[in-house]
Parts: sequence; C-alpha cells; structure tokens
Amino acid sequence: MICITLSPDIKLPPQMTVHSPSPDILSALEAAVGRNGLVADPAGMAKYLGDWAGDYRGGALAVLRPGSVGEVQALMRLCNELGLGVIPQGGNTGLVSGAIDSSGAGLVVVSLERLNSIRRIDAGNFTLQADAGCVLQAIKDASEARDCLFPLALGAQGSCQIGGNAASNAGGVNVLRYGMARDLILGLEVVLADGELWNGFSGLRKNNSGYDLKQLFIGSEGTLGIITGVEVKLFPKPAQIETAYLGLPSFETAIQLFNWARRACSDLISAFEIIGAECIELARLIDPNMPGPVEAPVHVLMELSSGPGIDLNALLAGFLAEAMKAGLVSDAVLASSNAQARAFWTIREGLVEGQAKRGYHVRTDLSVRISDIPALIEHARDLVATEHPGWIPLAYGHAGDGNIHFNVLPPLELGESEARALGVEVTAGLYQIAVGLGGSISAEHGIGRSRRREFWAGLSPTHRRMTMALKAALDPKGLMNPGCLLPSTETSS
Ligand code: FAD
Ligand code: LAC
Ligand code: ZN
Repeated sequence: MICITLSPDIKLPPQMTVHSPSPDILSALEAAVGRNGLVADPAGMAKYLGDWAGDYRGGALAVLRPGSVGEVQALMRLCNELGLGVIPQGGNTGLVSGAIDSSGAGLVVVSLERLNSIRRIDAGNFTLQADAGCVLQAIKDASEARDCLFPLALGAQGSCQIGGNAASNAGGVNVLRYGMARDLILGLEVVLADGELWNGFSGLRKNNSGYDLKQLFIGSEGTLGIITGVEVKLFPKPAQIETAYLGLPSFETAIQLFNWARRACSDLISAFEIIGAECIELARLIDPNMPGPVEAPVHVLMELSSGPGIDLNALLAGFLAEAMKAGLVSDAVLASSNAQARAFWTIREGLVEGQAKRGYHVRTDLSVRISDIPALIEHARDLVATEHPGWIPLAYGHAGDGNIHFNVLPPLELGESEARALGVEVTAGLYQIAVGLGGSISAEHGIGRSRRREFWAGLSPTHRRMTMALKAALDPKGLMNPGCLLPSTETSS
C-alpha cells in the first residue's frame, strides 16, 4: 500500500465565503483556544475550506485549532452558549463534503490537527491510544515500530486523521480481512455538544455492559460530538506478504476467482481489488511510464499475508496456476520484491489521483452483495452507453467487500458547469441501479452533504424517527455539523 500525502497548499477557492464575525465573538473564540488556535483571515482559512479534488468550496466564521482536550471543551461550551454551529474537521480528505459547508454562515470549523500525539501503545494488549488528530500513517508507523499492524489502509492515509477515520467509519483496501474502522476501534473519547467530556476507553475486547456508545459516534460524521481520542486494536505484523497482479477476461470471472481464493488460500487474503482496464489510462495521467503488468479487460490486485510457518509464496503460486488452468485468469505476475509489489499499488492509487487530475467526474461508492458486482457493473455501463453517450465509465474498487467505485468521466469537450449539471443525472441513475440490487449508495465514504437528500429519502419513517431521537438526545440545539448527514427537521430533506 502506498500513501498519498495531499498537498498542503490548496489555492484560495474562488467561491470561498469568509463571514465577518463581530469582534466580541472573535475575542471570545480566541480566549477559548488561544491566539495560535484561531484562524480568521481568508488566506489562512483557505486550506480548511476547499477539498482535495476541488469539488467543494465552503465558508466559516473562523477556523479553530484547539491545542488540548480542555480547549475543545472550552470552545464547545462557548459555541453552545452563543448558538454557533460546529464543523469538526480532521485531515479534510473526505469525499462527500462532510467537513465543508458551502455557506458557513453561523458556523466555525474545528480542526483537530494540533491534537496529534500517540498517547500509549500497549503491545501486550495489542492496543494503541492516540489523539484524534493523529495522522493515520503516523499510527501505522508507530504500530510497526512495535512489531504490530494497524490495518486500516487507504490512499489518503498520509493526510487523514484517526478521528476522521472514526467519524466517517473509513474502509479501504484491507476491510475484507480486518473490517472497517468500526471493527478496529475499541474506545473513544468525545467532547459532547455542551462541552462535557466522555471517556469511553477501557482497553477491553469484551465488555457487555449496556449500550456500546462508541458505536454511535463511529460513522456519525461529526453530527453528535467531537472525537478527541481513539483507542484501536492492533494485530501482529505479518511476517510475509505476497502480492499478485492478474489479468482476467471479465468481472464475472473476477468474482468467481475471489470466491475460490477465499477457500483455497486459507482465508489469508488481505486485499482483493478489481480494476477495469479503462482505469489504467487514468493512472498514466500521473505517471506516463506507469507499467501495465497485464493486458486484459479486468485486472485484479490480490494480496495474501500471514505470520511465519507456512509457505505463502507457494500457496499463492499454486492457487494461481490452478486458476489459470481453469481459465479464470489469463495473465498473472507475482511480485518478486517489495518494490514490485509497491509498483502494483502505485497503479491502484494513481488511477484515483488521475481522476482528480482529469477534472470534474461523477464519483460513486456503491455497495452490493459480492455476487451482484458483475450485474451492477453491467447495468451501470449500459446506462452510461445508452443515456449518456460520450461519457467514459470507470469501474474499480474493493471487490472483496462488494464495494465498487463506478465513476464516470464527462466528455472533454463539455464545459465544467454543464458537466456538473448533467453529472447529477448520471449519479441518480447509478444510485437507482445500486438500490435496485438491494445495495447502498454509500459503502465507505459516508453521506456528508453531497448524498444527504438521497440517503434521507431512502429511510423508513421508523429509521428517521430513531435517528432524529438520537440526534436530539446528544445535540438538542442542532449545532453539531448542521447540514451534514441529517436534515434540519424530520420532514425536510
Ligand atoms: P475529514 O474529511 O476531515 O472529515 C470527514 C467527516 O468526519 C466530516 O463529516 C467531519 O465533520 C468528521 N470528523 C472529522 N474529524 C472528526 C472528529 N475528530 N470528531 C468528529 N467528527 C470528525 N475513504 C475510505 O473509506 N476508503 C478509501 O479507500 C478511501 N480512499 C481515499 C483516497 C483518496 C485519495 C482520498 C482523497 C480520500 C479517500 N477516502 C477513502 C476518503 C477519506 O480519506 C476518508 O473518509 C477518511 O476517513 C476521512 O478522514 P479525515 O481525517 O480526512 O476526515
Ligand atoms: C478508493 C477510494 C476513492 O478506493 O475510496 O480509492
Ligand atoms: Zn474505496
């Protein structure tokens, strides 16, 4: 897995809205977080108010950067008293406008970036506690230094924060083996909307004592409180990793291969990514010399990992030989070095960066039963070909979890604003296909502001009522990340 560190020098977004809070409010905010913790000038605020891909532009009264949990409590007490909305922000790598509000009126952004220490590693208990603002890569590195693995792995791991991973219930490429953030988190520390601190750390793997409150905050996207600390599970660092890049005739065969591999490889698969061949061109926008290890309509990047004591290389090589004999795989390259394995992952990460470089595109995060992946891709391709000729479909994703990013590039000749307007229609059609297959419109990226209407429209009245009851109990004034995930009232969208 490689790691993209997102550029810190995002340019001032053209439509960024900077509101002018009264001097009284500014000085009260400064008293809560200190001079170093308050950013209120447009140039300083720019990087917090624009996203990585240039899709979202926002506003805020100010950006606050608390330097301690006590300062988070002080600012939350103040915002509660003044009725100011609060948008918690981690690494700002989210893809659904969860940490950016287009208006920002009456809101402050609270960045956790200064709360970035690893608090404690208990290698004997296989646990690690960190401040919420700790960058994911730093947690992975610290775990590795103690011969442990923290398996959450995603392209943005050089920039996203563990608090943001918890709040968005991040997924990534190792979910099929280790689960999502929700499965990896043992405890949370949270500052509630009124400034009260809840310490939910115990270090326990088994604890059947009442409601599991941490699970409410995981995936809550900043709408229930500010996560200030996270305790995660660690695993033994794998002694061996084998990586293969495969060419296959179709998505059907990729799913057959996956099924077969799970059993034949003793459930040691740690990644199984599928990549439609059309995506390789996107990776080449980042590196024109990017090697294409195979020529085939569908590519699979497969990884096995294990402890010592078994011949993992022989297991994978033997499996691939059988798969080729059975006609499931047409071409296979088994990495012969760490550098070659990294090069394979560079293709996977490069195609994501390449899309951003190409410009505006329809981006989805669809989830279906694993067995429905071929149907999802087939129907989605048909939709694009018939309803949106000239648009270019791309299918890739975490096939082992039933999670496909079916993205669509607009024709180059289309102007950006026209493409964005038509993109809404393309997205709606793709959502309909996923929902028609009993799937979800958000596998791992969350709802944020960009999928809120579709999400809310799909909920039953009972689901809506329970959701709003939880929100009202924990954030009665509705100040936590207003506009994200939930409508402002039960009936509106
Ligand atoms: P932000 O973007 O800052 O915030 C995300 C949400 O969490 C917002 O609603 C925000 O209000 C809330 N939040 C953040 N911090 C806190 C906190 N401390 N307390 C309460 N609420 C908080 N995601 C995946 O799941 N899988 C992938 O494979 C993946 N790959 C990506 C690749 C690239 C190149 C990029 C740019 C993004 C990718 N993402 C992926 C999306 C993103 O990286 C994840 O959603 C990540 O978990 C967001 O973390 P963050 O710290 O950047 O959070
Ligand atoms: C990925 C992100 C975009 O899988 O979720 O690359
Ligand atoms: Zn993904």
